[in-house]
Amino acid sequence: MSDNIPQCAKEAVLLTSEPLSADKYTEVKGYDFNNGIDYHKLLKSFATSGFQATNFGFAVQEIKNMIDKKLIPLSANELEEMNLNPVGRERSNCTIFLAFTSNMISSGVRDSIRYLVQHNMVDCLVTSAGGIEEDFIKCLAPTYIGDFKLDGKKLRLSGINRIGNLLVSNDNYCKFETWLMPILDQILQEQKEEGTLWTPSKLVARLGMEIDNPDSVYYWAYKNNIPVFCPGLTDGSLGDMIYFHSYKNPGLVVDIVQDIRWMNSQAVYAKNTGMIILGGGLAKHHTCNANLMRNGADFCVFINSGSEFDGSDSGASPDEAKSWGKVKIDSKPVKVCGDATLIFPLVVAETFAQYHSQFVKLNK
Ligand SMILES: NC(=O)c1ccc[n+]([C@@H]2O[C@H](COP(=O)([O-])OP(=O)(O)OC[C@H]3O[C@@H](n4cnc5c(N)ncnc54)[C@H](O)[C@@H]3O)[C@@H](O)[C@H]2O)c1
Repeated sequence: MSDNIPQCAKEAVLLTSEPLSADKYTEVKGYDFNNGIDYHKLLKSFATSGFQATNFGFAVQEIKNMIDKKLIPLSANELEEMNLNPVGRERSNCTIFLAFTSNMISSGVRDSIRYLVQHNMVDCLVTSAGGIEEDFIKCLAPTYIGDFKLDGKKLRLSGINRIGNLLVSNDNYCKFETWLMPILDQILQEQKEEGTLWTPSKLVARLGMEIDNPDSVYYWAYKNNIPVFCPGLTDGSLGDMIYFHSYKNPGLVVDIVQDIRWMNSQAVYAKNTGMIILGGGLAKHHTCNANLMRNGADFCVFINSGSEFDGSDSGASPDEAKSWGKVKIDSKPVKVCGDATLIFPLVVAETFAQYHSQFVKLNK
């Protein structure tokens, strides 16, 4: 056997490269804890850390672009078109849609969402049924931290429901029923006597008014005239209650046709739009589909754990959304893969919370 390194191995391992220049590429660099613990600098360093940390950095930039656009005042002409928004919310230069799955409200992400709605930082909410009812239920009784591994049979026998590692007593749903039934009676009476045509968004606004509790996302949505769309309103405890109510006091009609006009109009008549979508399913698709009506959102951030390989809409990338006209073809949408309970509060800390005083001034 020869003592020389085989030429083919040498050529394969020591292949010469074209230069990677620093003006074209960013050097990978993480946070140096020798500089002390500075959370803002730590989160800024994510952008140059690689993998999902870099996508986090892109998401922060994309949301800052939405906010900067939103804070540019509209001209007098553009303001005159305000009445084109059928829910009567004042127009801004960028309509920000915030969509989220139900479990975001079950978890502490609810408090980040409530902050954004309280300070009028977003313009339109989209969620599934659990994302509505759990906000109200939390005002009536708490959700607790449990464990993913708790035994389902034992929990059922004790009347405890599990959402991941969260626990909700079944009594909470009994309290919800006691609170909700008289409101359903009242709105049915208004339907019969005043001809009110209820829609999911009108119902959520009414519940937000009735709960009268500043911990609630929908209390603030009602106060700030932020529409909330939930076309699947009956797929949760709200549906159970509406079902029971239909026996006790039949006749309530909840119309989704009026809401699809309102929802799509939010996108059609907006000057620019941004979508921030936590999780997938109905909330993600409903928001993207409304933005198809304007040939795509101008800004887009997805934060979810879905993967593409199964062809699910939940896992579909922003680039797939471009192919459908749901995201503008020249935009730079971002997807951050991971659990939104970890990612979203940090995103809020680096974006909306940095603009807190500007929003407070704007809302005066
Ligand atoms: N608390 C609850 O989750 C709850 C309560 C009552 C009713 N429901 C009903 O269950 C049905 C399904 O729920 P859904 O449509 O809200 O979404 P879902 O729970 O089915 O989630 C849809 C997708 O979103 C992504 N996702 C979910 N949680 C995530 C997280 N923490 N981080 C990142 N990505 C995440 C995943 O890709 C997931 O497949 C709905 O009709 C809803 O009303 C849910």
